[in-house]
Amino acid sequence: MCGIIGYAGTKRVDKVLISGLKKLEYRGYDSAGLAFITNDNNLEIIKSVGKISKLEEKVNKSNIQFGNVGIGHTRWATHGIPNEINAHPHTSGKVSIVHNGIIENYTNIKEELQSKGVTFYSDTDTEVACAYINYIYETEKDKIKCIQKACKHFRGSYAFGIIFEDDKDSIFVTRRDSPLIIGISDGENFVSSDVSAFLSYTKKYILLDHNEFAKVSSNSVLIYNDNGDLLNKEINIATWSDTQYEKNGYEHFMLKEIYEEPLVLKNIFNRYLNDISYLKDVDLSIYNNIHIVACGSAMHAGLVGRYLFETYANIPVTVDVASEYRYKNQIITDQTLVIIVSQSGETADTLAALRVAKSKGATVLAIVNVLGSTITREANIVIYTYAGPEIAVATTKGYTSQVAILATLAFEISRKHLTLDEKNKIISEMNNIQNILNYVLLKIEEYKDIAKSIYKKEHLFFIGRGIDYSMCMEGSLKLKEISYMHSEAYPAGELKHGTISLIENKTPIIAIATNKNLYEKTISNIKETKARGAFVIFITNEELDTTGDFYDIKLVLPTSTDFLQSLSVVTALQLISYYTAKERKCDIDKPKNLAKSVTVE
Ligand code: F6R
Repeated sequence: MCGIIGYAGTKRVDKVLISGLKKLEYRGYDSAGLAFITNDNNLEIIKSVGKISKLEEKVNKSNIQFGNVGIGHTRWATHGIPNEINAHPHTSGKVSIVHNGIIENYTNIKEELQSKGVTFYSDTDTEVACAYINYIYETEKDKIKCIQKACKHFRGSYAFGIIFEDDKDSIFVTRRDSPLIIGISDGENFVSSDVSAFLSYTKKYILLDHNEFAKVSSNSVLIYNDNGDLLNKEINIATWSDTQYEKNGYEHFMLKEIYEEPLVLKNIFNRYLNDISYLKDVDLSIYNNIHIVACGSAMHAGLVGRYLFETYANIPVTVDVASEYRYKNQIITDQTLVIIVSQSGETADTLAALRVAKSKGATVLAIVNVLGSTITREANIVIYTYAGPEIAVATTKGYTSQVAILATLAFEISRKHLTLDEKNKIISEMNNIQNILNYVLLKIEEYKDIAKSIYKKEHLFFIGRGIDYSMCMEGSLKLKEISYMHSEAYPAGELKHGTISLIENKTPIIAIATNKNLYEKTISNIKETKARGAFVIFITNEELDTTGDFYDIKLVLPTSTDFLQSLSVVTALQLISYYTAKERKCDIDKPKNLAKSVTVE
């Protein structure tokens, strides 16, 4: 979603802003722009639709004498189509602004301002916010107080980067719900939606909290709370390095991130398997029901978690998509543990669900990748996946690392129900995960062959039962988001209740059967589709491998316990999606219409 960068220092502002915007590209956007102070003290704006490279071209062609202070933005359209007028920054009177989030009551504010004679040019809520700040500024000349007063009037979520025409040295920022971070260095300071945008300049940063307001200049950063008190905030040091944001020889970030999975998962099990100090003093045995809440792939990781908690720990679990959970009647008792799963730690619906659960007295445990993100600051317990930055919009190592943490937790809670043999087997597999996944990565030619067999089709089905079905859900989402093929995941036994009418000659079916107890049942369902002409890609493990005339292509993966099987299967599915999208010549790292960090409802 939208990305914000701001700079106050001594370097040429356009260079810093463009390099920052390039780092924010992965969040998803459809237009971009800059507002900056020129050497002769004018405020200039340059915007363009499409890639940052187009904005850069425009900047390079201009004859402007760029100064050293400015703000930049990548916009992911919410209010109004992606065009130059709707692109940020927006200007009204003396104020220029970039915004991430949504001002929900912008229509009322717009009408109020229109009745006072203000004219609007774009369809955006941001221009309205800008005009409102400018309106307040006519009577309140203290800039921080002016922004505070305006924000009291806004409903919704926002991170703002603001410059005033009559303060050529400073950027003003504030946030509510949407992320905003301040990068600290000598003689120059930065603001951004995430640390990636300024990591090549500094690793020091301050996390701005909700309803805090900052004035950022080259030599000072002043942060105030809602009452106007000056705050002394902690300076953090980023652990992620700038090179982690490079492709390092891989053709796409997605491929690089898939290849990082063996090590990421090894590190997770090394870190968490025998050391439960991450749970602080929480005794998991007091919970007799669990709610897992997340969006998209993170929710699919939750489905694997549900299977494990229910099967091995005998605890009832519900899994909800956060946008539904936040508005339903959540039945929470003091024995309910709410597990929030989020790679970014900023997903708006997931954050809202967390707040609802906490307000009802639940203990909230969050599984998150991005350090210091909003969800980590609000949950009772945080378990980091430490997967490193994930740049490709489609999550890969984000998903498998979430599953690995859920598997570790489920194992921890299930210990008393498992035999010594079972425990040893799981531990030995967890310790061997790097080798298992490296072996899965060796089968590239098989994934490419599968991709070649399906890439010309427009519709495809994934089928499986039990835990295999949750892998189908993730495989199907991965395929549709990056290859734009229509794909649906079905419980194998459910197909005959309607959807089987869509199976015709050569309809591709990816059938997953890795679960011993359900294997025969799944094979029967596969045969039902084969009898109707389906082109079947059969995925199983070495233990269950069998031959027969019910498949066209067979993929055999290493056998694992339920705790880990989805890690190898989904890694294979990620690669099948990757090579299918490549055959279809799609923009793999930045699929159309998608954003990495979904910070609006
Ligand atoms: C799919 C994908 C999304 C995210 C979802 C939640 O590849 O990346 O479905 O899983 O938007 O995002 P986080 O985990 O950041 O809360």
